[in-house]
Amino acid sequence: MGDINNKPQNWEVVEYDLKNASSELFDKYYSIYSQIYKEEHPDEPLLPLDILKERIQRNDPSWCNRYFAIFRNDDYIGTGSIQFVKPGIEADEFKFLSTFYIRTLPEYRRKGVGTTILKKMTREALKIDIKTIEIYSMLDSGKAFCEHFQGKVVNNFGFNRLDIEDIDWGMVESWKTEAETKTPDIKIEFHETLTGKDWEQYLEMQIAFFKELSLFDEEPLFDEEFFRKDFVEYEKKRIEEGVRDSITAIAREIDGTIVGYTEISYDKREPYKVDQDMTGVLKERRGKNLGKRLKAEMLLKIRDTKPDVIFITTGNDTKNEHMLEINRKLGFKQSSVSLGYSFKIHDLAIKLGLE
Ligand SMILES: CC(C)(COP(=O)(O)OP(=O)(O)OC[C@H]1O[C@@H](n2cnc3c(N)ncnc32)[C@H](O)[C@@H]1OP(=O)(O)O)[C@@H](O)C(=O)NCCC(=O)NCCS
Repeated sequence: MGDINNKPQNWEVVEYDLKNASSELFDKYYSIYSQIYKEEHPDEPLLPLDILKERIQRNDPSWCNRYFAIFRNDDYIGTGSIQFVKPGIEADEFKFLSTFYIRTLPEYRRKGVGTTILKKMTREALKIDIKTIEIYSMLDSGKAFCEHFQGKVVNNFGFNRLDIEDIDWGMVESWKTEAETKTPDIKIEFHETLTGKDWEQYLEMQIAFFKELSLFDEEPLFDEEFFRKDFVEYEKKRIEEGVRDSITAIAREIDGTIVGYTEISYDKREPYKVDQDMTGVLKERRGKNLGKRLKAEMLLKIRDTKPDVIFITTGNDTKNEHMLEINRKLGFKQSSVSLGYSFKIHDLAIKLGLE
């Protein structure tokens, strides 16, 4: 190791094709990926190599990635990737945006590795006309790094976890029965896929809920048309590929209208874990405990049909007090907070000495 303590180093960054990497190279990537995954998710089993490989090799309908690395003695000591909208895809709000990911092995941190990767990726992003860069970070090291480069926090997202063994089933059942008396004409149904008019209603609600959430409100980065197309494509692919299943509980009025839903998704190869995704109720139907009823019904469904599940994870905007309160009562505990930082590329380029 010796000279790694001297700073600065002339680290060499190479761009490489991770999607088509040899097994040997992929195993090395998996090694650095897993170390940082463990830091980010200390209470979770590692993501199996075949799942990671399949996620990287998958052909995303709207986004593409380029990969960069710094090697030392053939091992990765740092990696980075830039994600941007695929050329040819219409996306007025997103076409100038790129999300960066950077990881440095713990024993090589604070030696300029991350900065060198950031510099290379910023240079490449300038060539493809990117104007805004976003970096998301769950760990303190990533947050300190982004603050060092004067990123502006535009998104604050908490990850929460609920262990099945901690659930108070009596309370969940009482939520269900109490809420039923307030909305006796509304029925809850479970679906693995939604079709026809149900899908159309669900899609419009999904768009409305995403717009309403402050997820995008710090920067005007919500492209409705892009979101609609991407979401439809993603759903088509999910069903075709058959690895990620989902269950949507919908609340339906007598005339057939859907007024709310909650959804979960899970990878069959990780049977111990379920992701709780969007829960939303139409504005004009709020205040009657429909959100609680949907959540309670979904938990009972998980209990009755998925005996292997050990925990449920969910992400919430840290300002979404109403949903956080429901989750807290159910026993969800915050496991981490991810901050999203935004950088104007020219400001960053100046800071990095590129301009
Ligand atoms: C964030 C990360 C990539 C930084 O990599 P690195 O190789 O240590 O970065 P650098 O050495 O170039 O750091 C540049 C500057 O950022 C700041 N910084 C980085 N890590 C820091 C930390 N843990 N505490 C305080 N400041 C820190 C410092 O100002 C540092 O300069 P200095 O060492 O001269 O003071 C690395 O810590 C990491 O892999 N963390 C886990 C993954 C992650 O959070 N990635 C970011 C989001 S994708």
